[in-house]
Amino acid sequence: MHVFDRKAELIDHLNMERDKNHEIGLVPTMGALHKGHLSLVKKAISENDVVVVSVFVNPTQFDQKEDLEKYPRTFERDVELLKQLDDTIVVFAPDAKDIYGEEVIAKEYNFEGLDKVMEGAFRTGHFDGVGTIVELFLTTVSPSRAYFGEKDFQQLQIIRKLVETQNLPFEIVGCPIEREPHGLAMSSRNERLSETTRKEAGFIYKTLKTANEKFGTESASEIKKWVKSQFEKNELLDLEYFEITDENTLTPMLKKQANQKYRAFIAVYAENVRLIDNLRLN
Ligand code: PAJ
Repeated sequence: MHVFDRKAELIDHLNMERDKNHEIGLVPTMGALHKGHLSLVKKAISENDVVVVSVFVNPTQFDQKEDLEKYPRTFERDVELLKQLDDTIVVFAPDAKDIYGEEVIAKEYNFEGLDKVMEGAFRTGHFDGVGTIVELFLTTVSPSRAYFGEKDFQQLQIIRKLVETQNLPFEIVGCPIEREPHGLAMSSRNERLSETTRKEAGFIYKTLKTANEKFGTESASEIKKWVKSQFEKNELLDLEYFEITDENTLTPMLKKQANQKYRAFIAVYAENVRLIDNLRLN
């Protein structure tokens, strides 16, 4: 198992792999790994000769200092989990200055409006921070493919836009959401919930599924109203937003059009922890 904390050493190692005609897959993460992350790593292993998993809690994508400070950090356990999965995995865990250079700041991107709604509207600057670090990891590793979860569907679409607008020659692979047995989407932040609230948070997915059933017969505004009323009755979960949008443009759906794909997106606070989820509607 190779663990690098310096960009220069990682690049040397990957150049050796490329000399052997090995294809490289990249899975960017912020660590505190769970089965959701590992599903991306497994897919990357099945499609590439070498897989790099980056573990880096990226400061420029956090709009709340407290969220950054409280973000779980379990590096030794992460390395152990990856080793158990496949000990040829390359872990890259740089410090901020090694990957960013002297100035740890976000670039400003034009994501053509994809960053103006939902997560982007509620977390100022978040996607410029994500774009900056993902572009740095992509250009450092130069992978054939990079893997991202649909759990952060807006992030996935923004990264697709990033590689398109920056002309980056890397394939972006989207991977399905892994869930806990009662439906809660797996997330490093789930660790911060009490047992009772974690169980109750299964309500988020349950509500998304019922919204999907209603989608056949009800309008977006009726469904939004219904979702809001469900959360008003729930004492443990506070709804931040619920949206139904076009899957590609992420613009809110006004009237259903044939041949368009739609998705429901939700953000909820539980014990001060922010949880997000989404579901394709059909
Ligand atoms: P992080 O939250 O650690 O997630 C890393 C990757 O794992 C993301 O692509 C995310 O969508 C995926 N993922 C998380 N939970 C998942 C689940 N339950 N099922 C499937 N995939 C899941 O997303 C980030 O880190 C950062 O923004 C990053 C892209 C690394 C940039 O800093």
